[in-house]
Amino acid sequence: MKTSIYRVTISFAIAAAAAFAAQAPGATDARIKIDTERVIGKVDPALFGNFTEHLGRCIYGGIFEEGSPLSDSAGYRKDVLEAVKNLGVSVLRWPGGNFVSGYNWKDGIGPRDQRPVRPDLAWGALESNRFGTDEFLEYCRRTGAEPYLCINAGLGSIDDARQWIEYTNEKRDTYWSQQRRKNGHPEPYGVKYWGLGNEIDGPWQLGHKNAEDYAKFALEAAKAMRRVDDSIQLIASGSSNFGADWIGWNRTVLDALKNDVNLISLHTYIGNQPNDLERFLAVSRDLEDRIAVVQGQIRAAEITQSNRHPIYIAFDEWNVWYRTVVSGGEFAIGRTGLEEQYNYEDALAMSVFFNAFFRHADIVRLANLAQLVNVIAPIFANKQGIFLQTIYFPVLEYGKQRGNLALDALVESPQYQPAGGGRKTTYLDVSTTYDSNGHYLFVNVLNRSAGRDLTASIENTTGRVGAQAEVWQLDHADLKATHGFGDDQKVRPTVKSETLSVSGNSFAYRFPKHSLTILKIKVE
Ligand code: AHR
Repeated sequence: MKTSIYRVTISFAIAAAAAFAAQAPGATDARIKIDTERVIGKVDPALFGNFTEHLGRCIYGGIFEEGSPLSDSAGYRKDVLEAVKNLGVSVLRWPGGNFVSGYNWKDGIGPRDQRPVRPDLAWGALESNRFGTDEFLEYCRRTGAEPYLCINAGLGSIDDARQWIEYTNEKRDTYWSQQRRKNGHPEPYGVKYWGLGNEIDGPWQLGHKNAEDYAKFALEAAKAMRRVDDSIQLIASGSSNFGADWIGWNRTVLDALKNDVNLISLHTYIGNQPNDLERFLAVSRDLEDRIAVVQGQIRAAEITQSNRHPIYIAFDEWNVWYRTVVSGGEFAIGRTGLEEQYNYEDALAMSVFFNAFFRHADIVRLANLAQLVNVIAPIFANKQGIFLQTIYFPVLEYGKQRGNLALDALVESPQYQPAGGGRKTTYLDVSTTYDSNGHYLFVNVLNRSAGRDLTASIENTTGRVGAQAEVWQLDHADLKATHGFGDDQKVRPTVKSETLSVSGNSFAYRFPKHSLTILKIKVE
């Protein structure tokens, strides 16, 4: 089989073969060469964020359900909260999404019973406003997530945005900080992440603008917001999809906002419409291209900044989402829900995203899995309880690598030509990270082959590896296996300790067809 080479990560030398995976030297299909000194960047904890939108049952009936026996006295669903905490959500984005472009944050503060009910023009629901800024920020406090607020750059005004940050962050005694105090929050929240609108490039967006008009609006909004609190991190609304002129949109936005923003957002949703696993998982080609292109655009913008500072990429919406899209291509009144039921192959797809983010840890510094509960989400709730979707488990496991050093490993793997065109890609999709405090190496390997187990020789060039490996693996025979209420044990990882047969500085490991394996190995 023809072999291609691409870089990944790692350093140190290992040599071992798990008992079942042992293979004679020379009989391997692939090679992963690791050097812990070849560091791409830190795996930013902010890569393990999620997104909560006023959409379907994400907020109401998801994280918040007043009067439910499963909720606490403030209305937060306790079972959902527990699952959110266990997931280790680092950054939580709110209130949208498309919803935010018609949202007035002032409707959502003060006594709940006095808040106005408004039509939600994005998703066709009625918005009670019983969950607003204070409820969201309290939720972040309880879950330990850093809040990320997105301003209304659609139908909203710059002054609305400025007043919002005055409400949340102003220390001095001003009109809006007094309102916050009156509502029971004497201390400023110090919200750090602020998005300058959502998907403003999309014609479906309320208040959609062309790139020049958006850039003018965002520039002035950034100015006004920074005059209230200059310590914030601002995120420009980059290209929401990768249609005709996504490169032009990002260029214009970066050029106009390069002195004012810290990150630019990208969104990517993927689907397996043709029912072709290898094609579905080959999406990393697109992810890599998009990241590389935007990274180049960022470099170009940084060179001409008047106040040199780095700009990073925020993938602040990403996931598998295709079954619950309604036909017609546009969102319309009443078309809510988006309650995807995820299967085993979707769980594998989580790995494609994280591997790409890790391989670009120098530039991708924030990511939000869209969303958190019920709506295209890892957690699913009804009035009686919750279940964990298949995608929950890889997201949780990758999250344990936060703070590690992402390594630039060499990967040689058999490759394939996915149906549908484009260039060839490797069967093994690999990322590697190193915990330099605990001296653990993590090797994340997705075998995208639908039909073939692949054995890789794994070499470490910078240190001896211990013989014991912790092996986390998702491996299920049925690509379409799903979870449901009372039935969320099927697509679960196995975790075991294996003794590796290290020979010299390498060992062989067999990766089953369509599986995800994370090896954790001590470097001695
Ligand atoms: O996450 C669902 C929707 O997808 C969001 O509202 C929007 O930003 C994107 O198009």
